[in-house]
Amino acid sequence: MPTVMITGSNRGIGLQLARQYAHYGWTVIATCRNTISPGPIATIEGDVRVYGLDVADFHAVERLAEDLADTKIDLLINNAGVYGDRNTGHRNIDIADWEKSFRVNTMAPLMVASAFLGHVSRDGGGMIATVSSVLASIAESSPNSASYAYRTSKAAVNMAMHVFAEEVRPENVAVILLHPGWVQTDMGGPSAAIDAQTSAEGIRKVLDGAGMAESGRLFAYDGREIPW
Ligand SMILES: NC(=O)c1ccc[n+]([C@@H]2O[C@H](COP(=O)([O-])OP(=O)(O)OC[C@H]3O[C@@H](n4cnc5c(N)ncnc54)[C@H](OP(=O)(O)O)[C@@H]3O)[C@@H](O)[C@H]2O)c1
Repeated sequence: MPTVMITGSNRGIGLQLARQYAHYGWTVIATCRNTISPGPIATIEGDVRVYGLDVADFHAVERLAEDLADTKIDLLINNAGVYGDRNTGHRNIDIADWEKSFRVNTMAPLMVASAFLGHVSRDGGGMIATVSSVLASIAESSPNSASYAYRTSKAAVNMAMHVFAEEVRPENVAVILLHPGWVQTDMGGPSAAIDAQTSAEGIRKVLDGAGMAESGRLFAYDGREIPW
């Protein structure tokens, strides 16, 4: 069976993705920051291997890639993310928070993708998916929430992965960007439109149907392509 690696898999959408891939027989490399008390990820049935990884620690990313050097990864999902500033507006920007958002939401997905490219590309290629957001789309998203750190860091990861997709195309690695929907998680809040199970089911379906033709593009969990 194939192997999927998921960052930020201890709660929210990442946990649901881990649960579902494990249920369908995949080997799941589930990474999370806190391996001392990882929570429900440790009790999922199936072949789930939990590893500690703070994606903002790029040395730790490299170390994990070395530790897993012999592992073929069919699908890597950059899921970990932070939503620091909620509608704070330009007068209240917290620079440290903005920098952290860029480190976690923009730089880390590319650093993880780069470190694990060899694991994904071996044996004929594979896929790297990154969970972004419709809030990054200038064409589609209403500018009515002034969440500068979140929206700019997700817009930037879209561009990073759009460029990365072309760079790694010769290695037969498809690079997909995802909007998971507005999801009932700690980040999305209880009033969100869909639950994490529905989001993860949609994401799996989108990724299952995606290939090199979809590489470098942004899709919602329901399969709709989102313009930049
Ligand atoms: N929920 C929504 O409506 C929504 C909408 C659009 C996009 N998204 C995106 O979907 C993804 C998952 O979000 P979610 O709703 O599941 O959020 P969540 O419930 O807040 O979970 C976020 C996950 O990211 C992890 N994380 C944060 N910083 C990390 C770091 N430095 N290293 C490793 N893991 C880190 C968290 O780990 P800890 O427990 O250690 O903090 C947690 O596992 C994010 O990229 C988010 O931006 C969500």
